[in-house]
Amino acid sequence: MKKTLVAVLAATFLALFITGGWAKESAQKNKGEMLFQQNCSPCHPDGGNIINPAFTLHQKDREAHGVKTAKDIMGKMRNPGPGMTKFDKKTIPDKDARAIAEYIMKTFK
Ligand code: HEC
Repeated sequence: MKKTLVAVLAATFLALFITGGWAKESAQKNKGEMLFQQNCSPCHPDGGNIINPAFTLHQKDREAHGVKTAKDIMGKMRNPGPGMTKFDKKTIPDKDARAIAEYIMKTFK
């Protein structure tokens, strides 16, 4: 009887632990979306580009300009071309910049 109780408790903790991890992961995903809406969507609504329409965030345009990986997108934020705001590590730390980059790659294909 005692053993069953221990097993049930262990299973409960394991379940809490796993769902806790999932919640954290999806919070990070939502964070990317939220930060994108705050910082990027004024110029890149729906992944477009209102200032320079050739430079949208859609995969085809990005890749034509050599912006392929999350790292490339982060590099763009740190060192943008003409017309784009610069986002340094103080404004958007690496962790948040990566969340934005992952959101972009997942969302604008
Ligand atoms: C003030 C307007 C503005 C804001 C705000 C802005 N961008 Fe841009 N973005 C541009 C312009 C203009 C370009 C084209 C010039 C260049 O390549 O930098 C561009 C280009 C890009 C490109 C390259 C697209 C391509 O097809 O090569 C990426 C990636 C990008 N921006 C990401 C972001 C992210 C991420 C944010 C938010 C953190 C952001 N931008 C915020 C104006 C903006």
